[in-house]
Amino acid sequence: MPSTETWWRDAVIYQIYPRSFADADGDGMGDLPGITARLPHLRRLGVDAVWLSPFYPSPQHDAGYDVADYRGVDPRFGELGDADKLIATAHDLGLRIIVDLVPNHTSSEHAWFRAALAAAPGTPERERYIFREGRGTNGELPPNSWQSVFGGPAWERTADGQWYLHLFDVSQPDLNWDHPQVRTEFVDILRFWLDRGVDGFRVDVAHGLIKDADLTDWTAPATVLGGLEPVGPPPPMWDQEGVHEIYRQWRSVLDEYPGGRILVAEAWVQPEERLARYVRPDEMHQAFNFPYLEAPWSPKELREIIDSSLASNAAVGATTTWVLSNHDVVRHASRLGYPVGEKRRPGIGAGDPQPDTGLGLRRARAASLLMLALPGSAYLYQGEELGLPEHTTLADEHRQDPAWERSGHAERGRDGCRVPIPWEADAPSYGFGPADASWLPQPAIWAEYALDRQVDVPGSTYELYRSALAARREHGLGAGALAWEGLGPEALAFRNGAVLVVTNFGAAPVALPPGARVLLSSEPLDAGGRVPTDVTVWAVL
Ligand code: GLC
Repeated sequence: MPSTETWWRDAVIYQIYPRSFADADGDGMGDLPGITARLPHLRRLGVDAVWLSPFYPSPQHDAGYDVADYRGVDPRFGELGDADKLIATAHDLGLRIIVDLVPNHTSSEHAWFRAALAAAPGTPERERYIFREGRGTNGELPPNSWQSVFGGPAWERTADGQWYLHLFDVSQPDLNWDHPQVRTEFVDILRFWLDRGVDGFRVDVAHGLIKDADLTDWTAPATVLGGLEPVGPPPPMWDQEGVHEIYRQWRSVLDEYPGGRILVAEAWVQPEERLARYVRPDEMHQAFNFPYLEAPWSPKELREIIDSSLASNAAVGATTTWVLSNHDVVRHASRLGYPVGEKRRPGIGAGDPQPDTGLGLRRARAASLLMLALPGSAYLYQGEELGLPEHTTLADEHRQDPAWERSGHAERGRDGCRVPIPWEADAPSYGFGPADASWLPQPAIWAEYALDRQVDVPGSTYELYRSALAARREHGLGAGALAWEGLGPEALAFRNGAVLVVTNFGAAPVALPPGARVLLSSEPLDAGGRVPTDVTVWAVL
């Protein structure tokens, strides 16, 4: 077992999206008391820690990733005392709590940005953000050609004629990280939550804080969230050298606290060697492995990415992480229901080609079982333990993701993976809350995925995850090491300690070595005891 200080190296960390996990007060929006009441579910599932997406005061133009006050709780989600209760209850259950930190931008309703708008161009109030004069004869053109991640220009003009930078929504002005007050403020915010007992921070857009000094033109769309930037020199807004000194300073702050407090980078950066620079010994502890999430359902590509992830992290002494789903991407039970090699879709609507649900779930179960056998730390997204698919037929009038409007309705956005999750098949809002209310409508198929339809049901996705997490712990897979085995070009096979893991991607069934005793299997084996197509097996010899 890892010591307390290094608990994260092999941890399974479960992402809660507070709006959509559990609603205690019945207003249709999840909340902190709802989460606290449901924590025993996560204890029983067998995860080690929980990462909470933002719950801070916010106008909610980007579902809370537009923070107006970093030291509070939005009244929609509860109050500060509810956060304290949540942390204490989690700790009593043996679960650690990681909170989201959004340092690249604030909400336009943050006191600093209000002050900046109220002050004149050239005043100190404006220097905490990135204000510039426009181009053109009267400054009527944006200062450069950058595009917002959500679509449209990355600059907005203010009433007095200056422009400010917003890499995301217009309501998310980018902070100026060259300003000492910005740095001091965030160290203070870290301490505020560390003192309340949190075990770490997931750092939003960690590769974006520093922009190149000249704000050099860049016409390609900023592809973060929609995928990875092509390998090559980083664009002027991402992955600049200057970000690293910020994380070194934060690390030294975290290291003052006992118990292994961690920083996790959300950095859409490739190749893996570049990503590994965020987890050098004096920087962050982990970075989400988006190249793994982006890999197609193919043994060759998965093997390559697993190798390069393990090697690049080992080179800096870091642990590798694995992830298949989160609140920004189409859920993997739906993603894997499209033809292999298709580019990942930024959202799905009723008029789009629909995934093959059965195939998607079959592959998702195999993919999850493969991921949970890999050495390192794994991230799960709420609902994937139920095999939950994307809501692929959400009516457009319900869409709330700013990407939908800002892209001129070209991108349906991320609402389909954010729908409140089902707990009880026959209860109002499928047990999400006491009322029949849900901020995004839940599809009728939610009943069959509800937790109460899966608990103690052999072969259910929930029981598969629960058994996998128990076996992973028992066999020390997270802290283990991987050795490839050759079982043919259509299979991925490796040993991790005593456990043999086989995923079959091909049409023909794959035989296990003689004497193999099956521990777990994502679907039943065939009559000859062989591994069928799109199935993962864990066995001991
Ligand atoms: C991150 C979040 C995403 C958010 C964006 C802007 O990528 O995961 O949900 O929209 O940052 O804060």
